[in-house]
Amino acid sequence: MFPHDFMWGAATAAYQIEGGAREDGKGESIWDAFCRVPGAVRNGETGDVACDYYHRWADDVRLMSELGLRAYRFSIGWPRVLPEGVGPVNPAGLDFYDRLTDALLAANIRPFITLYHWDLPQALQDRGGWPSRESVGWFAEYVEAVSRRLGDRVHDWITHNEPWVVAMLGYASGLHAPGQRDPVAAFLAAHHLLLSHGEAVPILRRNSPGARVGITLNLTPIHPASNTEADLAAARRKDGFVNRWFLEALYRGAYPADMLAYYGALWPLPDFPAADLARIAVPTDFLGVNYYTRHVVSHDPRGLEVQTQTVHVEGAEYTHNDWEVYPAGLSELLLRLRGEYAPPAVYLTENGAAFLDAPDANGDVNDPHRITYLRAHLLEAHKAITAGVPLRGYFVWSLMDNFEWAQGYSKRFGIVYVDYPTQRRLVKTGGRWYADVIRANGIKDG
Ligand code: FCB
Repeated sequence: MFPHDFMWGAATAAYQIEGGAREDGKGESIWDAFCRVPGAVRNGETGDVACDYYHRWADDVRLMSELGLRAYRFSIGWPRVLPEGVGPVNPAGLDFYDRLTDALLAANIRPFITLYHWDLPQALQDRGGWPSRESVGWFAEYVEAVSRRLGDRVHDWITHNEPWVVAMLGYASGLHAPGQRDPVAAFLAAHHLLLSHGEAVPILRRNSPGARVGITLNLTPIHPASNTEADLAAARRKDGFVNRWFLEALYRGAYPADMLAYYGALWPLPDFPAADLARIAVPTDFLGVNYYTRHVVSHDPRGLEVQTQTVHVEGAEYTHNDWEVYPAGLSELLLRLRGEYAPPAVYLTENGAAFLDAPDANGDVNDPHRITYLRAHLLEAHKAITAGVPLRGYFVWSLMDNFEWAQGYSKRFGIVYVDYPTQRRLVKTGGRWYADVIRANGIKDG
């Protein structure tokens, strides 16, 4: 059994589900542009239509209700609200999220809003994007507009989703929009994402009385592939790269010294002002954690990510997008967070898995692997709660199959199956299982 007020939810993100890419005055985002770059996204797929949620959201809210969700984590499309990123607000854009919020509240589903889930207005990328320090002010203007409109009814706010991914895949490896390959730009982007979080927190508190504000990080245990000195150092480096860089800035007001020295020897990184770090470390109400897998790494001088290579684990199970199924990593991570950073509350803002789901002849979508995955992770979450981690809620990724970024529509993470040609929604067996968990507020034996 989970605590009586445990927040059971599901998560999505605007660009991954909405479609309506050019409707009602929406501006272009960096993902709209990136999808048109040949070879950037699998099969040249785009989010133009996605799950057509822009038109079907009312039915989807009914579906959430049927599943018994207590909370729904969704993101606001910045270019829908501010087509040019800053300047005139598009009333139709804000109206869309306003109606959605009211429908959720009417259905007794608590809205958890993510303000930035990767769809920067292209107009702002044209002015330099996140590597530009001006981005901090752009984000503040956007947060002001959204929270003024919704802050009376929405009380749970996530500033950013996975700043590591935004910065490193967007500006260093170029695997995500806007597709740049410049490590210095990536570290500037990461810094400005964090700083803009720090600036957004007081805005949200002002416009949304009683608001609970946090940020979501992609966090993962990093294990060495062997006990050699080189692999142990590689694991520590990768941990610094993915986890500590963000956690220490947010919870200690300083970037980790070992990583500053490591990066500084490779690239001309700027000095990060202490005053910025003080603003980044503004107290928040919760930490959002996205957990999917662990990384087992070895030292590799040519490895693209801080000279490491992620290795396959023999005998382990892998999901359809090649992530190791490793539930024990979840409690390991949560206990570490409690021990080292002591966030006042934690939400698992994403957890889930892609499998090759398909409807059978009767139209049933059986996804036993998803049930096994979710069950094992929920048991680890429960273990962490019992050990004293202030874990307050769980959001499965995702409510429905959707546009999985550079992988297009090939990866199905939903508890609801989407038949893209007809846009029919079919609740997977895993979705029914999750609804039972919510109803029981826990997991039954067997
Ligand atoms: C996370 C993203 C989310 C989704 C899952 C599978 O990194 O936040 O949008 O793509 O991975």
